Amino acid sequence: MRIESASGAGAYVSDIDLNTLNTDQIEQLKKSLGQYGVLYFRQQNLTPEQHIALAESFGTININRFFAAVPEHPKIAQVLKEATQTQNLGQMWHTDHSYDQVPALGSILVARDLPHTGGDTLFVNQIAAYDALDDDLKAQLVTLTATHSSRHVFGESAHKGKHDDLGDRLGNTAAATQDAVHPVVIKHPFSGRSALYVNPQFTIKINELDKQAGDELLQTLYEHSVKEQFQHRFQWQPGSVAFWDNRATWHKALNDYPGQRRLMHRITVEGEALFA
Ligand code: SIN
Repeated sequence: MRIESASGAGAYVSDIDLNTLNTDQIEQLKKSLGQYGVLYFRQQNLTPEQHIALAESFGTININRFFAAVPEHPKIAQVLKEATQTQNLGQMWHTDHSYDQVPALGSILVARDLPHTGGDTLFVNQIAAYDALDDDLKAQLVTLTATHSSRHVFGESAHKGKHDDLGDRLGNTAAATQDAVHPVVIKHPFSGRSALYVNPQFTIKINELDKQAGDELLQTLYEHSVKEQFQHRFQWQPGSVAFWDNRATWHKALNDYPGQRRLMHRITVEGEALFA
């Protein structure tokens, strides 16, 4: 197995077949996920069953409450944009499941049908973003907690009156009842390193500050986190796979392929409670 650090966020892993991992390789990948935040693979050949087996070697699968599932495979969420649709899923910077009390470890995304151009995914490294903050701000952040919610993204009211066409790809709006409080700076469960754990999509407030001060602080952190130096643009190819750690990264799916279809299969693996 060869692991080469990518610019900004993550690492490319080569000389590996994700269908035939042994225990040592699984341990090495877990360690690398903790170190780099996201792992990129090329030229893999995973059937849906092999995708499920791969995810299960890293933990229990979290069956997505809101995304439509791949037909015949309820454990795999479908990330789809048809050629006739305008909105894509995951267009805003986010970290999946931060609204859960015990947020998911991460997801394994497999390319199934790609547009001829566009449809890249951007990742940012929230450990590097934290490290680059000045010491005064770091000292303030470690005293704070934030509330995250699923309601405004997946709930009924999120789509009411909006001219989006996500309706048939997202569902179960009544289940969007999650609110969770997490430290603004978490200790990464694998690496022990400090990571910024707020994100533009699901974080709704800083609990210890009034609304204006909290919103301003979040805005400052968001502008900092998406700087070029923490960012990597992953260009999908047939056979590409990305495995990201939600506790160390954000991601964002670009919507720059009008009139073309993009289909990805995503499996999310359960995580653990997060601590400051
Ligand atoms: C997601 O946000 O999970 C989807 C990312 C992508 O489609 O590139």
